[in-house]
Amino acid sequence: MQKNKSIVLGITGGIAAYKAAELVRLLVKANIEVQVVMTEAACQFITPVTMQALSGKPVYTGMWDASILNGMPHIELSRSADAIVIAPASADFIAKLVHGRADDLLSTLCLARDCPLLVAPAMNKQMWENPATQRNIAQLKADNIAVLGPDSGEQACGEIGLGRMLEAEDLLYLIEAHLQPKLLKGKKILITAGATLEMIDPVRAITNLSSGKMGYAIAQAAYEMGADVTLVSGATALKAPIGVNTISATNADSMYQSVMQQATTLKLAPQDIFIGVAAVADYSPTITSAQKIKKSEQSLIIELKPNKDILADIASLPNAPFCVGFAAETENLLEYAEAKRQKKKLPLIVVNKATQAMGSDNNQVTLLDKNGAHPLERAPKIEIARLLLQHVVDMLN
Ligand code: C5P
Repeated sequence: MQKNKSIVLGITGGIAAYKAAELVRLLVKANIEVQVVMTEAACQFITPVTMQALSGKPVYTGMWDASILNGMPHIELSRSADAIVIAPASADFIAKLVHGRADDLLSTLCLARDCPLLVAPAMNKQMWENPATQRNIAQLKADNIAVLGPDSGEQACGEIGLGRMLEAEDLLYLIEAHLQPKLLKGKKILITAGATLEMIDPVRAITNLSSGKMGYAIAQAAYEMGADVTLVSGATALKAPIGVNTISATNADSMYQSVMQQATTLKLAPQDIFIGVAAVADYSPTITSAQKIKKSEQSLIIELKPNKDILADIASLPNAPFCVGFAAETENLLEYAEAKRQKKKLPLIVVNKATQAMGSDNNQVTLLDKNGAHPLERAPKIEIARLLLQHVVDMLN
């Protein structure tokens, strides 16, 4: 497990302040320590008591709080933080940041910081579109301040347009991305995820049980580490990850075509990475009926043909990228996985017990390479994904 990260979450005055409550809950759940600082105006929209209950820490609202150890809150609060995040950031607060003003605790903290600053604007569409705000946003970016969003959609004032604050779960995703070391910067990574559907007729299919969560977590972790990520996704109920080029391919054949095309377009080289996480069906019907097959008393015989192995074919390309496979087994885990690793010519394979991994948010895996087995502790899939990519980076180096 990595050391817990900690952030200062600054809340400014805007109706989107209510979304900050959910953001605190998600950050804490993701093991990120949150120190909330609110402006006076923010306290008109949501109370410090709510934020204290969710963050488990006292909330600071003023410059002159005697409980801050050295009496220098602008230094004390930002000293230990990995980042300061302002969500929501009002148009007024953004203007203040641009000018380096420091007339309350939060703006002073921002000016005195030595850590990254991330800003999630939230305002009415006209305020967002105003040239003054646009100038200010351009200046924030020029000052190396990350601007998260805003989103487009329905606004509290009844208008529809740009200016809504991003939803809490999208903010969490982007904040986590900022907190990760950029170990994969400059690398291209191609990932398959989810299950394939091999159609029998227009309403029936053969598939594998796979939620896609592990592959999507790897795509997220790779994005966090600064890679250029392409995800070829089979059937899943998951939302396409932010910052990842996601391509849908619902059957084994279309996934094969799509991966091969991407490998060519991306010009994958030996220092790039391919990770096959998809549960690709091993067989598909020889014939897909154009019409729904009618039920009858007779047995129905479906002839199946084997599908091509995407991973094995990518691994045997001249100039093949660094290839990682997955093996979901129900018995003899290490033995079967090692045999698969050698047969498919993979430097690394990840083995897990099929029944424990499927659909769950957690997983327990072992990494198998030429040096043997490296078991990882049971953990959330995103943590497993980060450790796996760390191992890949170590092997590539
Ligand atoms: O041989 P098996 O299907 O158990 O191997 C699993 C690994 O191979 C996974 O990484 C999976 O994504 C990949 N695979 C593939 N194409 C197939 C079958 C499996 O890429 N047709």
